[in-house]
Amino acid sequence: MVALTGEMKELFSKVKLFPVATASKKGVPNVAPIAFVVMVSDDTLWLADNFMNKTLANVKENPRAAIYLYDADLKKCCQVKGKIEIKTSGDDYEKMRKMVHEKKPGLPAKSLLIMKITDVFDCMPGPNAGKKIV
Ligand SMILES: Cc1cc2nc3c(=O)[nH]c(=O)nc-3n(C[C@H](O)[C@H](O)[C@H](O)COP(=O)(O)O)c2cc1C
Repeated sequence: MVALTGEMKELFSKVKLFPVATASKKGVPNVAPIAFVVMVSDDTLWLADNFMNKTLANVKENPRAAIYLYDADLKKCCQVKGKIEIKTSGDDYEKMRKMVHEKKPGLPAKSLLIMKITDVFDCMPGPNAGKKIV
C-alpha cells in the first residue's frame, strides 16, 4: 500500500465530489459521482454506499477502483487507484454509518467500501502527465 503525501491530502480536502471508476469482471467500465469519501488514514479511503448499484456489483466481482482528484485553484490533479474491501457489519461499518447519519439522517448507508490505496499518478497536463507519484 502507498501513503498520500501532504500535497495530495490538501488536494483531497478541496474535492467535494469524487468520480469513482470501477469495472466488471468482463471489463465493462463504470463511473459514478460519490460525495461521501473520507480519508481515514494516509493509505485508506472510506466510501459510503448509499445508492451504489453498478459500482457495488463491480467491486464485488473485481475489487479494483480509481478516483481522480482535481482542484482548479491548486492546479493539481491526481489519479488514485486502490483495492476495495466491502463491509456490511462490524466496527468500521458502524462508524461509517454514524458519520453518514450525522450528515444526513435517513440515508441507507448500505455498506462501507474500504479503499486501500495502491498507486497515485499525476494527471495535470504537462511534462509530468501520467507519471506515477507514489
Ligand atoms: C452529487 C452526488 C453525490 C452523490 N454521493 C453519493 C454517495 O456518497 N454515496 C452513494 O452511494 N451514492 C452517491 N450518489 C448517487 C450515486 O452516484 C448514484 O446512485 C449512481 O447511480 C450510482 O451509480 P452506479 O449505479 O454506477 O453505482 C451521489 C450522486 C450525486 C449526483
